[in-house]
Amino acid sequence: MTSSDLWDEATAQRYDDDAADMFGPQVLGPTVDFLARLAGAGPALELAIGTGRVGVPLAERGIPVTGIELSAPMVARLRQKVDEATLPVTVGDMATTTVPGYFTLVYLVFNTIGNLRTQQEQVECFRNAARHLRSGGRFVIELWVPPLRRFPPGQAGVPFDITARHLGFDTYDLATQQGTSHHYTTGDDGLIRYGASNFRYIWPAECDLMAQLAGLELEERVAGWDRSPFTSDSESHISVWCKP
Ligand SMILES: C[S@@+](CC[C@H](N)C(=O)[O-])C[C@H]1O[C@@H](n2cnc3c(N)ncnc32)[C@H](O)[C@@H]1O
Repeated sequence: MTSSDLWDEATAQRYDDDAADMFGPQVLGPTVDFLARLAGAGPALELAIGTGRVGVPLAERGIPVTGIELSAPMVARLRQKVDEATLPVTVGDMATTTVPGYFTLVYLVFNTIGNLRTQQEQVECFRNAARHLRSGGRFVIELWVPPLRRFPPGQAGVPFDITARHLGFDTYDLATQQGTSHHYTTGDDGLIRYGASNFRYIWPAECDLMAQLAGLELEERVAGWDRSPFTSDSESHISVWCKP
């Protein structure tokens, strides 16, 4: 049993269009370059592989990629792009599901560790990543830094996108590190659709402690796939931990 929201058929159908910016070469190029360099000859394991946004182009570089993914509808979308023999995926929870083999690279991108909404499950996810790594292998996470500096006392939410078609804002419970992203999207038919997703936010330091509990050592932290330096103003981080 997982605390994650289950991504349903309708969400899976829309995913590639809704996340179109994240599929662009300006994002995917540096992402896949970064991961391919760490994977070497592979194999690589993507936790929460989704519709294969990153896993498919990484596999196209000749690196064997395996996936774990909770949502069967997301995997069905991935299967429209690549077959099971080329990119095997096990449907299950990334905190507990195991797959055969040991990997040079395990990665979990696009802020998805936050989809596990308890600290215990997030720790288990780090342990599960470590369990699948060869000695010398790396676990990579892409995660935003919680933007709590934008959240003055008494304010209920923080907007992150305000356009004619989409209003997105986050609400937080600072006591429990729980958050919800709210989306109001205007469709082509003019109707406004509401969707929400829930998460548990964590700081880089808490990630490092989870990695330590899993027997992993921090090797590198940068602000983005372009390897820009991570500073106190960075809004996200790419962190790399190594299994000794
Ligand atoms: C933002 S999408 C990222 C998908 C893909 N990694 C990408 O970068 O496009 C988050 C994905 O995490 C999956 N997910 C959420 N909780 C999960 C869990 N506990 N175990 C495995 N997958 C999970 C969702 O079903 C969804 O496919």
